[in-house]
Amino acid sequence: MGKHSLPSLPYAYNALEPSISEEIMTLHHTKHHQTYVTNLNAAEEQLEKLTSAGDVKGAIGLQPALKFNGGGHINHSLFWKNLAPHGSHEAKAPSSGPLFEQINKDFGSLDALQKEMNTKTAAVQGSGWGWLGYNKSNQTLEVITTANQDPLLSHVPIIGIDIWEHAFYLQYKNVKPDYLKAIWDVVNYKEAEARLVAAKK
Ligand SMILES: [Fe+2]
Repeated sequence: MGKHSLPSLPYAYNALEPSISEEIMTLHHTKHHQTYVTNLNAAEEQLEKLTSAGDVKGAIGLQPALKFNGGGHINHSLFWKNLAPHGSHEAKAPSSGPLFEQINKDFGSLDALQKEMNTKTAAVQGSGWGWLGYNKSNQTLEVITTANQDPLLSHVPIIGIDIWEHAFYLQYKNVKPDYLKAIWDVVNYKEAEARLVAAKK
């Protein structure tokens, strides 16, 4: 057993339907995320061996595997928590409070934020992530994208959207805008607000 393990989902595999199908959720969690965890543990184990053997070159050669699988584990762990069943208290769009106020200040409205985030996320070439991130240096929420499984390091992640094909293809085929439109019905705004409040401390 390695150091990292697959976190369990805070809801059932079918709980995000119709936005995200049970089939996608099951594969995404038990196969894709599990693979990042398995490969991260293997890479860390190997790194330990190389480091204790004084093999600097070998350790440097492991960096891409650490970044890819470590990023995959971090990003998916955030992603599951920033989703919640449609119609739940958590998925209710905010109409007051710190998240509501910050979004209005930085984007004008939740609609405007969603539009900007969907446009920028749909434009990711190949695989990657769209993020709503908090920029601590200017106390502003901003939309950023990252490639592959690169984790968001420049900002505190508030909401992440997986735009890898494995996240939507079985249900939405090549129509990314439909997936991106539907995902907002299952965004956990309570989690987003908690992350924002913690980031501002
Ligand atoms: Fe994914």
